[in-house]
Amino acid sequence: MQYALPSTLQLKPRGRRLTQILVFQLWCHIAVATQSDDEFYYGDFPEDFIWSSATSSYQIEGGWNASGKGVNIWDTFCHSYNGKVEGNATGDIACDSFNNWRQDVEMLKFLGVQFYRFSISWARIFPDGTNATINEAGIKYYSDLIDALIAANIKPFVTLYHWDLPQTLQDFGGWENETMIEYFNQYAIICFQRYGDRVKHWLTFNEPWVVAWQGYGEGSFAPGIVSPGVAVYKAGHTMIKAHAKAYHTYNDTFRASQKGVISITLNTDFKSPKNTSNPLDVAAGERCLQFSIGWFAHAIFKNGDYPEIMKEQVRSKSLAQGYNASRLPVFTEADQAYIKGTHDFFGLNTYTTQAVEHYVDPNSATNTPSYMDDQDRKESFDPSWPTSGASWLRMVPWGIRRLLNWLKNEYNDPEIFITENGISDRNATSVLLQDSWRVNFYNQYINNVLKAIRKDNVNVRAYTAWSLMDNFEWGRGYEEHYGLYYVDMSDPKRPRTAKDSAKWYKKMIADNGFKKNSSGAKINTGTLFNVIALSVIATLAASK
Ligand code: GAL
Repeated sequence: MQYALPSTLQLKPRGRRLTQILVFQLWCHIAVATQSDDEFYYGDFPEDFIWSSATSSYQIEGGWNASGKGVNIWDTFCHSYNGKVEGNATGDIACDSFNNWRQDVEMLKFLGVQFYRFSISWARIFPDGTNATINEAGIKYYSDLIDALIAANIKPFVTLYHWDLPQTLQDFGGWENETMIEYFNQYAIICFQRYGDRVKHWLTFNEPWVVAWQGYGEGSFAPGIVSPGVAVYKAGHTMIKAHAKAYHTYNDTFRASQKGVISITLNTDFKSPKNTSNPLDVAAGERCLQFSIGWFAHAIFKNGDYPEIMKEQVRSKSLAQGYNASRLPVFTEADQAYIKGTHDFFGLNTYTTQAVEHYVDPNSATNTPSYMDDQDRKESFDPSWPTSGASWLRMVPWGIRRLLNWLKNEYNDPEIFITENGISDRNATSVLLQDSWRVNFYNQYINNVLKAIRKDNVNVRAYTAWSLMDNFEWGRGYEEHYGLYYVDMSDPKRPRTAKDSAKWYKKMIADNGFKKNSSGAKINTGTLFNVIALSVIATLAASK
C-alpha cells in the first residue's frame, strides 16, 4: 500500500534520513488521528452474523475454453489486447480455480466463514448464451463446488452475473438490447433448477453501475463501448428490468419449494460533502448518492422508478444539449409496478469515500453528454485519506458507517448484506504476505460496521471480505492485489498462501467481534503506523 506521503518526504538525500523518520512518524500519528470520527468500539456482532469472502468467475476460474465453455465478453476484451488491461493480462488461467477449486474450499474452511460468495460464468453453462445448448460439464463444475461447500458447512452465495456476458449475446447489442431480459431469465432458470435445491442465497447482478458506466459509458471494461451519456443509461435500464424478471421468476416458480432469498448487489462510495457548511456541497453529496446507488436502488427498493433528482437533471441537460427527450429511459407504470419491491435484502459493495463539491461545467450544453456531467459535481479525496493500490480507493473507515446509516434512512431500514469490502496494494511479492495495511483496513472498517449495528441500529446481517485470493483485477490485470491469500501467478500450479490478513480475519470470525483483551482483533493503529513507517524507512534505505 502506498500511503499518501507529503512530497517533502519522498526519496530525499541520505543526510536528511533522521528528519524524514521523525517527520514521517509524526505524519503517521496525525493521519491516524484524523482518520476516525470516533473511538474504537469493543463488542460482539449479533450471534447469527454472517462472515463471508468473495470471488467472481472470470477473476479466478481460468479454463476460458475448457470443457465446452463459450467465449464471453471479457475473453474477447482481453484477447483483443486493446491496451485497456494492464500488462495485456487475460483471465485465461487466472487462479485456475477451474482445477483448483478444492483448495479454495480448504482456504474458506481455514477462515471459518459461514458463506462463500462466488459467481457463475454464464458461457460455461450456456456456451452461446441461450438455452439452445446446455453444457453439462459446466453445470457439473459448479455443482461439485456447491456440494463441497455444503459438506464443509459453508453456504454458497451465488451471483448470476458478475460481468462476463456470453459474446454471442454481446453481438446482439448486450445490455443495450432488451432481448437480454429474456436470455438472462432463461439462464437464471437453469441455475435455479440445477442448484436451487442447495443454493439458498442468490444475487442477480453484481454492480450494474460498473457494467453500465465502465462497460458502456467510458468503455474501460468489457464490452468497451464508449457512450457516456446514452448507452450507459440504456444498459442500466435493461439490467434493472432483467433483475426484476429473474426475481419474479424465482418468486413465482422456485421460492415455495426452494425457500431461498434473492436480490441484487449494488455499489457506491460514500459521498461526503467537501464543505459541510456549504448547502450546495451538501446537496451535491446527496445528488451523487442518488446518481450512483439510487440509480438502481430507488426503483428496486422504493417506487419502481429513478430518483426524481436524476430524472430532472438528465432531462434538463438532455434538452439543453438538443435532444427532444431525456437520455434517461422511462419506466412505464407497468414496469414500475413490476420492478418495485424485487428484493429480499440489500446487497452492498463499498470500498471508499469521495469528497463532493457542487460544480456546473459552463460548457455542459456543448460537451459530449455524460452521466458524469449530468451530476453537476466534482469529486476528490481529502489528501489525509491513506491511498491504496487503486487510484479510486482511499481508506476512509468512517465512510462505511455513514453510508450504512444513509441506506437505512433512505430505503426503510433494509436488511443489509455487505457483499464486498476490502483494499488493494501493488506491492512486490516479497512483502505481500505481511499485509499489515490490509489488517489495519479490515480492523477499522469492520469496527465501523459494528458501530453501525450497535450504536446506530443499522440492520447489517453479513460482511464479505473482497477477496478470498489475489486474482485478475479487471483493468489492472495481476498488478493489483486484494486477496486474503497470495496466489503465485508465475507457478503453473497457482499455489495459494495465507497472508497475515487471512489469519487476522480467521481470528475476527472466531471472536465474532472485538474483545478488549484479545491479541488478534484490535490493532493499535499508532503502533501499526510505526511498523509501516519502519518498513518504508527500510525500503528507502534498501533503495540506496
Ligand atoms: C468490485 C468488483 C470486484 C472487484 C472489486 C475490486 O467492483 O465487484 O470484482 O474487482 O471491485 O476492484
